[in-house]
Amino acid sequence: MIMIGEVSTSLSDYLADKSYSSIGVIVDEKTRRYCLPLIEQTLGDHHVIEIMSGEENKSLETCQYIWTKMANAKMDRHGLLINLGGGVIGDMGGFAASCYMRGMDFIQIPTTLLSQVDASVGGKLAVDFQSYKNFIGLFCNPKTVLIDPKFLDTLPPRELRSGYAEIIKHGLIHAKPIWDRLSTFTELATVDWPVEIADSVEIKKEVVSSDPKEQGLRKILNFGHTIGHALESFSLGSEEPLLHGEAIAIGMVAEAYLSHTLLSLSEISLNTITQYIKQIYHDLPLSSLDHLDEVFVLMGADKKNKGGEVRTSLLKEIGEATFDITLQKEDVERALAFTKVALS
Ligand SMILES: NC(=O)c1ccc[n+]([C@@H]2O[C@H](COP(=O)([O-])OP(=O)(O)OC[C@H]3O[C@@H](n4cnc5c(N)ncnc54)[C@H](O)[C@@H]3O)[C@@H](O)[C@H]2O)c1
Ligand SMILES: [Zn+2]
Repeated sequence: MIMIGEVSTSLSDYLADKSYSSIGVIVDEKTRRYCLPLIEQTLGDHHVIEIMSGEENKSLETCQYIWTKMANAKMDRHGLLINLGGGVIGDMGGFAASCYMRGMDFIQIPTTLLSQVDASVGGKLAVDFQSYKNFIGLFCNPKTVLIDPKFLDTLPPRELRSGYAEIIKHGLIHAKPIWDRLSTFTELATVDWPVEIADSVEIKKEVVSSDPKEQGLRKILNFGHTIGHALESFSLGSEEPLLHGEAIAIGMVAEAYLSHTLLSLSEISLNTITQYIKQIYHDLPLSSLDHLDEVFVLMGADKKNKGGEVRTSLLKEIGEATFDITLQKEDVERALAFTKVALS
């Protein structure tokens, strides 16, 4: 179901035995320019639906625009929607397809590193609502996911490094050998992307297939995200907004510290993780770490919490994570202070 390789080949293989009534492709201004040319020839007749890039456009309003374009093009439920873009297009396009005429086929062609190793795997679809991220959505799997590392050639380096945080996370929570290999890459230019993407996708697939609706084990994928997400949200209102993966990199240091103080992660492992993240993410703005009160309130708004408690997923050791660990505000205070010093 997930194909890694040249996209024109995998797309033409996918379409070979289908007879869709029509094909729509959702793009933004960047993926129209950089990514659409790689698949256009394979598609034959198709409708291009261009939306504006950016998380602020991951909304019901944009879905209405998409549905209007689809209806105007007379697309019906026997058609196919192709989501060509990063996680914003994947999450929103999948949601739009799943609701259109009670649901039609869609496929994901993720074009950012983050969407290739994370967002396009696992069937979570959503849009943001009011100030809440991913608030309206559902679980529904695409017919296929076509990953082509070539798309990364045009991705800004900052976006590439942001997506790399999820690759690091997958190693830390579930695959020590992969972490061991990653920690030898001192700069991203030396990473063999096709190999790392394939291994990372395997980890996410394995975790998700054991718990598709996030009742238990799937929660380990949130390592680094309880604090990281709050830092990301806080930073959005500041002059130096963090990208998702950047915030998760900082969050992983904070949560590795908690894994050491609250669970069994050794001090050596904590230091190894901290040093590696510092090496790759040496220039991140850290001012959000000074805002314990606001960050803790934001952590309380996480969908993963239960009964008013803040819960998180932490490491028992490198390669093994556990979930539903309750955090007190004092724990978070110490973790933010540690992280500020460690990454400065
Ligand atoms: N469904 C899930 O399980 C899941 C998991 C993680 C993240 N997400 C979601 O993913 C979203 C973030 O995804 P993202 O990091 O891919 O961001 P994004 O979709 O906003 O893309 C980042 C930027 O890169 C541009 N871009 C995309 N591909 C390009 C290419 N090949 N060349 C040049 N520019 C390109 C886009 O236009 C955009 O400006 C968030 O909304 C998040 O909630 C979902
Ligand atoms: Zn993430």
